[in-house]
Amino acid sequence: MDVTFTVNGDRMRLDVEPRRTLADALREDCGLTGTHLGCEHGVCGACTVLVDGEPARACLMFAVQADGSSLTTVEGLEGQDSELHPLQEAFVTHHGLQCGFCTPGMLMSALHLLDNDPEPGREKIREEMSGNICRCTGYQGIVDAIEAAGESLREVDAEPAEASP
Ligand code: FES
Ligand code: FES
Repeated sequence: MDVTFTVNGDRMRLDVEPRRTLADALREDCGLTGTHLGCEHGVCGACTVLVDGEPARACLMFAVQADGSSLTTVEGLEGQDSELHPLQEAFVTHHGLQCGFCTPGMLMSALHLLDNDPEPGREKIREEMSGNICRCTGYQGIVDAIEAAGESLREVDAEPAEASP
């Protein structure tokens, strides 16, 4: 079946089996292996991507269900000069990752959270991130990182826009 969607702003047209998952289509057909597969049945959150701005488990969606959608994967966090996104910086600085397997899904859930609430507070961060499981960090560093990233992003938003020449 023909499927067309945009991923991180790039238009993709694929010919997929009806039962192909979105995760497999992203990883194997689009070459975007940043989206990880852990449990493959909707429990761990490692495969989380944004579909039209909302978090979705790419292991539970068929690629055909994303037809016409705008998708964001962890690769979409990369800045224009390949710099890390403030969330990625904060995960590094605050020890929000060890093996990194859960990290792409964590980042996408955190991005959605901060997009919708720039100053969520630790309790809300824990609640909103409860669908993403990490077996390494103990979560403290992840909460610290998201809190710090929220602060950085608020500072960026508060900076006056550069005057045009
Ligand atoms: S791989 Fe999709 S939720 Fe675990
Ligand atoms: S950093 Fe290893 S699973 Fe989260």
